[in-house]
Parts: sequence; C-alpha cells; structure tokens
Amino acid sequence: MTEGGALVEASRCGDAPRPEIAAFFDESTYTVTYVVHDAATREAAVIDSVLDFDAASGRTRHASADRVVDYVTLNNLKVLWLLETHAHADHISAAPYLQQRLGGRIAIGAEIVGVQQVFGTLFNADGDFVRDGSQFDHLFTDGESFRIGGLEALALHVPGHTPADMAYVIGDAVFVGDTLFMPDYGTARADFPGGDAGQLYRSIRRLLSLPAETRLFLCHDYKAPGRDAYAWETTVAAQRKGNVHVHDGVSQEAFVAMRTARDAGLSMPALILPAVQVNMRAGHFPAPEANGVTYLKLPVNAV
Ligand SMILES: [Fe+2]
Repeated sequence: MTEGGALVEASRCGDAPRPEIAAFFDESTYTVTYVVHDAATREAAVIDSVLDFDAASGRTRHASADRVVDYVTLNNLKVLWLLETHAHADHISAAPYLQQRLGGRIAIGAEIVGVQQVFGTLFNADGDFVRDGSQFDHLFTDGESFRIGGLEALALHVPGHTPADMAYVIGDAVFVGDTLFMPDYGTARADFPGGDAGQLYRSIRRLLSLPAETRLFLCHDYKAPGRDAYAWETTVAAQRKGNVHVHDGVSQEAFVAMRTARDAGLSMPALILPAVQVNMRAGHFPAPEANGVTYLKLPVNAV
C-alpha cells in the first residue's frame, strides 16, 4: 500500500470506536496475548496466544491459554479470529488449542508462505508440510479490512522483523506485533531469515503516520533498564517523541546502522528451533511417528 493509503487509514482510525482489550502477559517468554472485543456484540479476536512449552522435557501445558479461555468464557465472548502477527521465534502459538476450545479462524499474513519455504527447507519438512499457507484458515493481505462485531479492523503488512509481519488496526487500537517495543526499549530485531532493518524502519514509520492518539499494543516487553514494571501499551505520539531507536528525526540510515550493530550482539531466542517448526504449521505439531510420539527436530550447525 502507498503512503497515501496510510493517510486513509489515519482518518479512519481517528474517530474509531474503542474496543475492549484484555492483556495476558507470559513472563517466561515476555509475550503479551490480547483478547479484543466489541462490547455491543461480544464478538472477539485473540491475538498472539502462547502455548507453554518446556524445552528440557519436551512437555506442553495450557496454563497460559486457559487464562484466555477462562476470560472468554466468563465474559461470554464469541471468538471470530485467532490472529498471529507473525511466525514467532520465541514461543509456540496456542491457536489450535484455543480454536478447539473457543472456535475462531486462525489467520496470519500472506507472506507466511515465504517463511514456510525458508524454514521448511531448514527443517527438511517434506511429506507432511506443504508450503502454501493452507495450515491457516485465512491469509491477510496488506490493507485488507475485516470486522469484529461493530469494530472495523484492518490488516497491515509491516515486514522487517520477518518478511511476513502484520499489524492489526482494530478501532482506535493497533496491535503492532514485533515492530515497536515500549519507547524506552526501542524496536524489534531484524536479523532473522528474511529480516531487513530498512524495511522495519519503513514499516514503523508507516505505523507512526497514524493519528497521534492511536493506542499501540505491543507483542513483547522486557522492561527497559531503570523500569521495574512490565508495560505493553503506548501511543503513536509517545513513540514519535521518545522511542530510543526511531523517534522523529532518526533517519533510515542511522536506524539501520544502529539496528544492525545491535542485532550482531544478540543471541538466538531459547525456543527458536521448536517454536518455528510448530508456528510455521499454524501452531500444529508435526504428525506423530509410527510409535505415536510427536518429535521436533534440532538442526545441527545449520542456523
Ligand atoms: Fe517475533
């Protein structure tokens, strides 16, 4: 979509109704799951859910996802969507479990097929793994609109962290995925396969072209040095004024130099290998082997 498209989005976002938003923070992966709903119709979307996974034992648990189930049940919500902002590298999605419990369609950005290609090759996942996005119920394209009850929603393609990242504008709120973090922490890394710091900068500037009062909800918080509490809600105005990496006045060139240097010192997320091979399958684990046990692979010296 063009810059002009962003301006159309901006005028739409300004007087948009406010959705009800509940946040569920997972301290083991620093991930925020959101349940967004329209108070009038009780229709809802769940964004970026977490399946608890202990890599040492290979065991999954549903404690985090069940908090979402309990909230949805208690509030009598009807889940239409299970949205992913991207194929996460730091946690496994609980979307299939939530779908089984609550219903809803699992959706992600259409560029996921490129991510499936890269990781399908890395994990040599042939046979049970087609690379056409068909594991998801819906693939969003840039600028695609949808509804959650009386709320207007818009999917925006915001690549850079990964090639397939999406942000979801719902009413006056934007769920930005891994683009921006809190102003005092900065931005997401751009060094995963297909990541691109210049693209991330352009995606972020696009989000920051929305009205100043637009509420931004982040996918992660790690606490910034000097801050004791986790936080995940901010505004376009606060980001433009104070984001330590991309406040107004920072050029793309300066951002790319900073991001590239910073990424060079980051280690891989602890769960990247299990997470990616499940999340590229829309949160489904590979099919069990003949003995009934499901296995995840560990590529040696390949990443
Ligand atoms: Fe991510």
